[in-house]
Amino acid sequence: MEIRDFTTADIDAVVAILKANQQYGHADMDGPEAMRKVSQCQAAEFLVAEHEGQVVGLIRGTFDGSRAIIYLASVHPHFQRQGIGRQMVREIARRFRARGAVAVSVIVPGNAEFWHKLGFRQTTRVMQAYPIDEVLPR
Ligand SMILES: CC(C)(COP(=O)(O)OP(=O)(O)OC[C@H]1O[C@@H](n2cnc3c(N)ncnc32)[C@H](O)[C@@H]1OP(=O)(O)O)[C@@H](O)C(=O)NCCC(=O)NCCS
Repeated sequence: MEIRDFTTADIDAVVAILKANQQYGHADMDGPEAMRKVSQCQAAEFLVAEHEGQVVGLIRGTFDGSRAIIYLASVHPHFQRQGIGRQMVREIARRFRARGAVAVSVIVPGNAEFWHKLGFRQTTRVMQAYPIDEVLPR
């Protein structure tokens, strides 16, 4: 198992994983063009897990100079519960710490058990305005 940086050649595999996990809700946030932009963003870490030449997981997040946050983590259903999620979280946390982060947060839809096992504790709630125009004056 190798955890490495995402490249644009991984797009189809990443979309397939997100769809298989019902995490592909908004193409403008998670689709191919968004992935390209994230991979070019200096604040972002966008990693994939590769097993025998196949991309089986992804994780992405940002570090703003003070706080680090993981926005999305996904392991293909056929490869879950084999320690891949844990390896990806550890690698992104290692990279954030190398940049200077002292804490890392995660946006968790649904079951939080995996994150509890990795040492995360609930502190604040994350709320979202989608589309962003919801918070802009009309
Ligand atoms: C959540 C997810 C990323 C975990 O990845 P994974 O590779 O299956 O997790 P791991 O095998 O590394 O599990 C690490 C530990 O968490 C536990 N765990 C993993 N998923 C769990 C779940 N859904 N419920 C309870 N415990 C879970 C494992 O049993 C393991 O525990 P152990 O240390 O006692 O053995 C993966 O299941 C997934 O993609 N789920 C669908 C999408 C999702 O919910 N993403 C997270 C929010 S962005």
